[in-house]
Amino acid sequence: MQGLVAGKSALVTGGASGIGRATCLALAREGARVAVADQSEEGAAATVAEINRAGGQAIGIALDVTDPAKVEAMMRTTVAAFGRIDCAFNNAGISGVNVDAAGMKTAEWSEQAFDRMIEVNLKSVWLCMKQEILLMLQQGGGGAIVNTASVLGLVGGPFSSAYVAAKHGVVGLTKSAAIEYAEDGIRVNAVCPGYITTPMTEDVMRRRGDQILAKVPARRMGEPEEIAEMVVWLCSDRASFVTGAAYNVDGGYVAA
Ligand SMILES: NC(=O)c1ccc[n+]([C@@H]2O[C@H](COP(=O)([O-])OP(=O)(O)OC[C@H]3O[C@@H](n4cnc5c(N)ncnc54)[C@H](O)[C@@H]3O)[C@@H](O)[C@H]2O)c1
Repeated sequence: MQGLVAGKSALVTGGASGIGRATCLALAREGARVAVADQSEEGAAATVAEINRAGGQAIGIALDVTDPAKVEAMMRTTVAAFGRIDCAFNNAGISGVNVDAAGMKTAEWSEQAFDRMIEVNLKSVWLCMKQEILLMLQQGGGGAIVNTASVLGLVGGPFSSAYVAAKHGVVGLTKSAAIEYAEDGIRVNAVCPGYITTPMTEDVMRRRGDQILAKVPARRMGEPEEIAEMVVWLCSDRASFVTGAAYNVDGGYVAA
């Protein structure tokens, strides 16, 4: 098998849709066996079917990534199927619209919405990393972890304060873990997408798409496949000296 990640075993959360789905397909195309994890069992199964149809090897795992027992079970299921986990993409996430906070300023967010946003977009990344790191240490041979942050993990943005806080937290977690486990050969990086065409951005683009695109030097949305390219590379041995980095893939958004 040829490819950037040939022979590796990969785990992707949020693999049913958008960036996660595109990354599962790209990892499989580049030779990895892929565990597609998502709260949508049907969506994960669809990604798995697409990979298998193309001659790849994938399994689906249904879970809520905020449930620690389910996260541990996800690791066990993946190891049972593939023997080990070499690469993990912690990507499942939600936006303000999922917690009834779309369009709200900081003081308008409810405590419940704030807590759920932090739970899904930050704490779950730590829960997954914890298990992935423990497994990678135990199995030996290092590994590569990529976390999905956002351009909103690097700069602020209106109407998404808890999302912005969670994504800044993901960048911080990524850097700390990278320092701690560099000597063990475990690389930990973040990808920071700009505005990408996925179900997540449908609502915000409807409400203020013109304002957003005016701030993007490339004057367009990105495609999920353009994020997948960066993630596959970060997972691959080509990125062997890259750790603790947060790469924006954003059409120039953060540079402007
Ligand atoms: N689309 C963008 O413009 C953009 C920009 C920056 C960052 N991101 C980040 O990229 C990641 C993927 O987003 P996307 O745009 O592909 O969105 P998406 O809605 O298409 O996909 C998100 C996936 O995560 C899953 N998910 C959500 N909560 C979950 C949970 N608790 N447990 C398990 N699975 C869960 C959903 O079922 C869905 O399949 C998110 O972390 C998001 O914050 C997206």
